[in-house]
Amino acid sequence: MSKKKIILTGDRPTGRLHIGHYVGSLRRRVELQNSGEFDEIYIMIADAQALTDNADNPEKVRQNIVEVALDYLSAGIDPAKSHILIQSQVTELTELMFYYMNLVTVQRLQRNPTVKAEIQMRGFGDSDENDNKAGTPVGFFCYPISQAADITAFQATTVPAGEDQEPMLEQTREIVHKFNSTYGPALTEPEILLPDNAACLRLPGTDGKAKMSKSLGNCIYLSDSAEDVRAKVRGMYTDPGHLQVSDPGKVEGNPVFTYLDAFCKPEHFDKFGSCFVGKKSSFEFHSLDEVKAQYRAGGLGDVMIKNFLTEVLNDTLEPIRQRRKELEQNLPYVYEVLRNGTEAACAKAAQTLAGVKAAMKINYFDEGVLQELIKEQEAKYGKAEV
Ligand code: TRP
Repeated sequence: MSKKKIILTGDRPTGRLHIGHYVGSLRRRVELQNSGEFDEIYIMIADAQALTDNADNPEKVRQNIVEVALDYLSAGIDPAKSHILIQSQVTELTELMFYYMNLVTVQRLQRNPTVKAEIQMRGFGDSDENDNKAGTPVGFFCYPISQAADITAFQATTVPAGEDQEPMLEQTREIVHKFNSTYGPALTEPEILLPDNAACLRLPGTDGKAKMSKSLGNCIYLSDSAEDVRAKVRGMYTDPGHLQVSDPGKVEGNPVFTYLDAFCKPEHFDKFGSCFVGKKSSFEFHSLDEVKAQYRAGGLGDVMIKNFLTEVLNDTLEPIRQRRKELEQNLPYVYEVLRNGTEAACAKAAQTLAGVKAAMKINYFDEGVLQELIKEQEAKYGKAEV
């Protein structure tokens, strides 16, 4: 296939993006975009996928398309380098999916761990008081196939995403193999690109739960004000055994430290070292390791660390907030970016779809194809010479 390096990645527009999205994928995308190593970059606002479990709430999805676009642009996605597209407007994707559906079994989808976990989380398998199963929407059940269409339509080589997307990539590679071996090589096999920092693989919620999620109310959003961030950090779960400042504290599984692992940079100790100077005790730290060692030994209070974390987060988020404010005042520009990105995406997906149909020989009306077919069938019927 093409030897180009191509990125495809995306998000469901079901809410504003939070700092889990930022460290898990968005920050990396911006770095990859600016590395100049990639020939083409597509970033998808997956509204059609969002509808697979929000069929009764299309307005929520519609409203959140622009929220996600604002988050992308303010976090540093540059439309001159990356195409931002709206999935539902690239109709080639649904056509691809229809053919891929024949290459995947129901049993294989049922084994997809992400689908399994999500069905459970959404209660699709649960019964009501009359013992009626809520049921799983077929479209939702099949979304891994839709995602394979997303990835392959752009001939993506690289999919930067969180580890929860690994089963999707595996399923996509299986579809690519099956397609290429059955019909001929029309599709590119993608690789996932996971976050390189363990803390970023899955940022816990402010309550210490494994995942940041809107429904749990444990998120810090990219668009939160500095005051929101301060209040949310103040209320964060830490080590429940760290009752007195003098007690030794646990760093592992303490989300305050996980956030610092994900966000803290060496320069923050110069900038915000004063957070560790207090009336009763004061410290001078030069690295996160020193902070952790002191916390483990005891004597370092949660309030100081939380103040430091607040500064670190706001230092990162402030430029993003500023850009978002400006962009919110220029929505026609944001929609123009989406329109241009979607147009580029449609052109690319149309190319792939044409290749797929040619490989499957269902391109009857393409240049020259019909003449060949007629010749072949005339031979079969033994057309009389005139
Ligand atoms: N499933 C992703 C999510 O939950 C969104 C998504 C849709 C995606 N299509 C994709 C991610 C293709 C990576 C590649 O946010």
